Amino acid sequence: MGNWQDNRIVDLFGIELPIIQAPMAGATTPEMVIAASEAGGLGSLPAALLTIEQTKASLDQIRSATSKPINMNFFAHANPAADPVAQMAWRTALAPYYVELGLDPAAPVPAAGRAPFDDNYCGLVESYRPEVVSFHFGLPGPELLERVRQTGAKITASATTVAEARWLAERGVDAIIAMGLEAGGHRGNFLSDDMATQVGTMALVPQIVDAVSVPVIAAGGISDRRGVRAAFVLGASAVQVGTAYLFTPEAKVTAFHREALKSARDDNTAVTNIFTGRPARGIVNRIMREIGPLAKAAPAFPTAGGALAPLRAVTEKESRSDFSNMWAGQAASLAREMSAAELTRYLVEAD
Ligand SMILES: Cc1cc2nc3c(=O)[nH]c(=O)nc-3n(C[C@H](O)[C@H](O)[C@H](O)COP(=O)(O)O)c2cc1C
Repeated sequence: MGNWQDNRIVDLFGIELPIIQAPMAGATTPEMVIAASEAGGLGSLPAALLTIEQTKASLDQIRSATSKPINMNFFAHANPAADPVAQMAWRTALAPYYVELGLDPAAPVPAAGRAPFDDNYCGLVESYRPEVVSFHFGLPGPELLERVRQTGAKITASATTVAEARWLAERGVDAIIAMGLEAGGHRGNFLSDDMATQVGTMALVPQIVDAVSVPVIAAGGISDRRGVRAAFVLGASAVQVGTAYLFTPEAKVTAFHREALKSARDDNTAVTNIFTGRPARGIVNRIMREIGPLAKAAPAFPTAGGALAPLRAVTEKESRSDFSNMWAGQAASLAREMSAAELTRYLVEAD
């Protein structure tokens, strides 16, 4: 018998355990999704860093290995207009690092991308029909959203404040992910970009539960059974766990990121905008210390990563984390190494 009483999300998504393996662009593999869904939770495939072809290949692999429900996850941002002045300011801020590594600060850099949900991705949802579709950074426009709804998928999205939760509820989402400030990865904020007023999970979950009638999924800083139980007490109907899944063998993380996760502490992550232009929580490294964690010079999401790419290419070869994002939440040190299937079951096991 598990440690939850509220079956609203379990019933809504058609899953057995109220555990959502968080979509983690770059780190989630099809193997992780399969393991989490097969174990009875909801495996989530993030598309933000995948091309359409890669997304299709991942979905083919997942659908051939499990018939259990899955979640497809998308970013709902709009790509910014080109801003050469901001790009130049950013490159000037990074120029000393180029010089240090013997790179030409004026050489062209690759365009950095995180793909927003669009007609092509919507076509994939229509053909693969995931049981759940989740969005980060708000929602796509009404037409795209309606097309997703017509597939029968349950729709969910991240809220980092009560105002965002109400905004999502007004647009008809089926469930809301209450994403506290402890969470690893990009903040899902979309109505305000003021990081000083973002809310912690303990305060956010019950206030969102009180504000909306749809079920709430707690996310952020939940890496062990105590956190899961606490989220249920606060009124959450399920939890979405990210960082703890980075400790599983199914996660795709660099060796230095894995090492940093193992020695993570409560106080060595920070919210930074320097890797992409949007605030995201990761383990503090050299570039965050020296020009961040929040830098005015970082250009709009998702372009900031472009000028960092050449620096990363050199240093990652030497297993150095100086210029690389190592997303992690504040409860990384509570996570234990185990398989994704074991983790999915462990989180809701009774003591
Ligand atoms: C490495 C990493 C990548 C992430 N990428 C995404 C993503 O692509 N889409 C998304 O909706 N959330 C993303 N997130 C946020 C997670 O879905 C989740 O809300 C968060 O990890 C929960 O907090 P926790 O890390 O403390 O468990 C990411 C988080 C991490 C740690």
